[in-house]
Amino acid sequence: MVIEFILNNKRIVLDVNAEMRLIDLLRSSYKLTGAKLGCLSGVCGACIVLYNGEAVKSCLIPAFRIGGSTVVTIEGFAETDEYCDIVAGLTSTGMEGCLYCRAGKILTIESLLAKNSRPTRHEILAGFDGIKCRCTEPDSLVDTVMAIIAIRQRRLYGRS
Ligand code: FES
Ligand code: FES
Repeated sequence: MVIEFILNNKRIVLDVNAEMRLIDLLRSSYKLTGAKLGCLSGVCGACIVLYNGEAVKSCLIPAFRIGGSTVVTIEGFAETDEYCDIVAGLTSTGMEGCLYCRAGKILTIESLLAKNSRPTRHEILAGFDGIKCRCTEPDSLVDTVMAIIAIRQRRLYGRS
């Protein structure tokens, strides 16, 4: 099946087979390995990408479903100011983690803040329900997202 979609700001036209998952397409056809091969069953969050702006688990999405959509991987997102805000926030609170699901966390934070620039503690924790990260305590996660919000507000408006 031939599909057309936008991947990291580039228009792609590709013939995919019905068995292929989005994570396979990204890693094997485009060498975008930031989406990690974790549990491959929708539990860990290591494979998260942005799919029409939503943080989704690419191991659960058949490649043919992305026709007409926009997909951003951590490699594409790393080119943005928003990525720099998030990395600065992670660094400021020492929440870099082990890299296993770091990309998934970054893209989840972006998806959360794109919809809600001032989430509550409860909304932050609910947004991370889908990630099983051994390196992140709930309190440090909330502190980190709050730090990122302050960094972003300063960049955009000169104040936090
Ligand atoms: S690899 Fe997709 S959720 Fe774990
Ligand atoms: S960064 Fe998530 S398991 Fe280490």
